[in-house]
Amino acid sequence: MGVRRAIYPGSFDPITFGHLDIIHRASHLFDSLIVAVAQSEAKQPLFSANERVSLIKGAIPHAPGVEVRQFDGLLVDLAREENAFVVIRGLRAISDFEFEFQMALMNRRLEPRLETIFLTPKEDYTFLSSRIVKEVARLGGDVTPFVPSVVADRLKAKYLPHRE
Ligand code: PNS
Repeated sequence: MGVRRAIYPGSFDPITFGHLDIIHRASHLFDSLIVAVAQSEAKQPLFSANERVSLIKGAIPHAPGVEVRQFDGLLVDLAREENAFVVIRGLRAISDFEFEFQMALMNRRLEPRLETIFLTPKEDYTFLSSRIVKEVARLGGDVTPFVPSVVADRLKAKYLPHRE
C-alpha cells in the first residue's frame, strides 16, 4: 500500500478550533495531509489566501505530515496534481449535510477516484463557524475561546484597529 494521503480543503476564513480539531483527527488517520486553502473569491473573504495560509501555519507550527497550501480552481484538479484522492470534510450538524453531500457526489462525478470522508469535530466545537466568529469579533466580542491566539489578534487588528 502506498502513502495514505488526504486533502482537507476549505476557505478557512479564518481557521477556528473546529478546523484544528479536524486537522488533528485527520493527521492521525493519514500519513500525509494537505490543508488546502481555496481562494474562494466569490465569498469575498476577510483574509487573503496568503493570510489564511499563514494563520494556519501559525496555529500548527509543529505538525508532522501536515502541509498547508492554497489552490485556485477545482478541487479535483488539486487532487490529481497532488495524487491525493481522499477529501476530508468536517460535519457539524444535519444542516451541513445537504451541501456536503452534493459536493461529495459532484466531486466524485468529476473524478471517480475521489472519495470524501466526513469527520465530526469535538462536541464543544459543533456550534463554531468562521462566519459566526467573524461576527462576534466585528462587534467587539471575545473570540479567544474559539480561535488560536494568532487569529484572535489578527481579527482584532482587522476590525478594531483603533483598540490595539
Ligand atoms: O470552507 P468552505 O467554504 O465550506 O469550503 C468549500 C470548498 C472550498 C471546499 C469548496 O468550495 C471547493 O472545493 N471549492 C473549489 C472549487 C470546486 O472544486 N468546486 C466544485 C466542488 S462541488
